[in-house]
Amino acid sequence: MKFEKAIAIASDHAGFNLKQEVKKHLDELGVAYKDYGTYENKSCNYPDYAEALCRGIQAGESDLGILVCGTGVGMSMAANKCRGIRAACCSDTFSARMTRMHNDANVLCIGERVVGAGLAADLVDVFLGTAFEGGRHQIRVDMITALEEKR
Ligand code: RB5
Repeated sequence: MKFEKAIAIASDHAGFNLKQEVKKHLDELGVAYKDYGTYENKSCNYPDYAEALCRGIQAGESDLGILVCGTGVGMSMAANKCRGIRAACCSDTFSARMTRMHNDANVLCIGERVVGAGLAADLVDVFLGTAFEGGRHQIRVDMITALEEKR
């Protein structure tokens, strides 16, 4: 896959095995990525890894991120607390496509206990391969960003 964006990936222990599968898939596609951990199956806390990956995006090290935990939900909750992050937990390719087109999502969250390796690879392909449509959707994305200032 010819891909110009920088990709980040991270997981907790419950998402570690699926993260390894996703990394293998990215390797096969020739897509480079930075892995923010965890690097083992040992129990850990998913907000730490969501934060590490999101800080990388905020710092401009990466454009798009992939977070994996047991369900994908905890990772998305934690990531969405980070400024400038729009994380979408997806287990179907339609949502993965639409969240890029309409929400300009910059982080895809996947659950190892929810989806298999094949579907995860499809989710990643769709997420990375779909562009934001802009236009009327930009106004709404700007409104999401404005919510960060209202806190
Ligand atoms: C870990 O057991 C699990 O709670 C975590 O990976 C995630 O699914 C939370 O949302």
